[in-house]
Amino acid sequence: MSSLIVQGGARLTGRVRIGGSKNASVAIMPATLFGAGPTRLEDLPDINDVKVFSEILCALGARVDRQEDGSVIIDPTGLSRWDAPYELVKRLRASYYLLGVLLGRFGKAEVALPGGCDIGLRPIDQHLKGFRALGAQVSMEHGMVKLKAKELRGAEIYLDVVSVGATINIMLAATMAKGTTVIENAAKEPHIVDLANLLNAMGARVQGAGTDVVKIRGTDQLNGCTHAVIPDDIEAGTYVMMAAATHGDVRVENIIPQHLDSVLAKLREAGVIVEENGDWVRVAAPGRLKAVSVKTLPYPGFPTDLQQPFVAMMTTAEGVSIVHETIWDNRFGYANELIRMGARIKIDGRTAFIEGVPKLFGIPVCSKNDLRAGAALIIAALSADGESEVDGMEYVDRGYERIDEKMRSLGATVRRAG
Ligand code: EPU
Repeated sequence: MSSLIVQGGARLTGRVRIGGSKNASVAIMPATLFGAGPTRLEDLPDINDVKVFSEILCALGARVDRQEDGSVIIDPTGLSRWDAPYELVKRLRASYYLLGVLLGRFGKAEVALPGGCDIGLRPIDQHLKGFRALGAQVSMEHGMVKLKAKELRGAEIYLDVVSVGATINIMLAATMAKGTTVIENAAKEPHIVDLANLLNAMGARVQGAGTDVVKIRGTDQLNGCTHAVIPDDIEAGTYVMMAAATHGDVRVENIIPQHLDSVLAKLREAGVIVEENGDWVRVAAPGRLKAVSVKTLPYPGFPTDLQQPFVAMMTTAEGVSIVHETIWDNRFGYANELIRMGARIKIDGRTAFIEGVPKLFGIPVCSKNDLRAGAALIIAALSADGESEVDGMEYVDRGYERIDEKMRSLGATVRRAG
């Protein structure tokens, strides 16, 4: 396990630049396999999930090359495999997007059920319902999902739950189907719009992404393109909360502030000064924060991926905050570590009750199996008295680009160990 030694107590100040969105990247990278030629991706973040997905695409026969200017070229012309066994996909939840892409591209796909963060049950029944509606036969053998279709045909698909993954996977397969597909009760996350923009730049015809009805008119030929990945709203929200928790004053740059509306509204309620302008937001928290309650919801609601940093921030606010998690059934696993640091938290099912304390104290802690839990422990460690060692950085590095360097540039005293 690798860890981060954090010296608590510093107010974070200055500017930080946010990288490309993890969850957009892991949908966009496989989508480039539809192209008849290479696609150039700008702002693809330098994070472990992107590295792992690059390895997976190469193992399937594609080429992935990072250029000197930081852009990444994915050339799918050598793509030869439609199977992705467990050894290949086990490190990446989003490898399930290969189902939609390989089904669209080859009319068949065999992909192992993936791993990823341990945050509760992660069914893919809605993805499979969508593939079946498009005409695929679906079977499950030895942990592999097998899909086969003579021909994919457009269909009307109503999602029983609002699912980011199912919306994206069905969009991907439907892009190569004959006729029109309509996804109702679709997820509306910014990365779904980003994927639609990429697909349309490749020659697809996707309408309505960002609303709960997405319409895809299928095609049989897509080309490569150049696409800049949108900024990561969750990385941005994490730095915003780092600044607030340390009573700092930070300008978080290269973002789309609108994507953080629900988060910034909650920070304002907590007494944080928030200034938005074009592609940045400045947050300053001179005094003690006020307790604020929140419920996680699909976009544009408060994101589940910022629930953990939010709880960490509220541990030292004045009053009692209630945080209700509606997306995942097991996403408070990190609370015990915060309690060991002196936080007063009670968990009842999917609800956390946080009674603010004046200070946390630094100790060794471990973030288990959820990269956002790691981010929460780092925020807690920054605001605590004394030194903490946050173990499990390999999870954090899955989704946060050079987090130690970025924190140092804001005045934090942190170093890697182990
Ligand atoms: N669900 C079903 N059936 C399905 C799919 C989902 O019941 O077929 C349920 C899930 O169990 C969950 C809810 O629907 O209760 C939402 O799941 P969703 O499919 O939206 O999640 P996901 O696509 O697997 C993505 C992100 C997660 C993020 C969620 C929610 C990626 C690679 N992952 O997961 O990101 O928490 O959406 O916004 O995009 C993270 O970045 O830390 C992370 C876990």
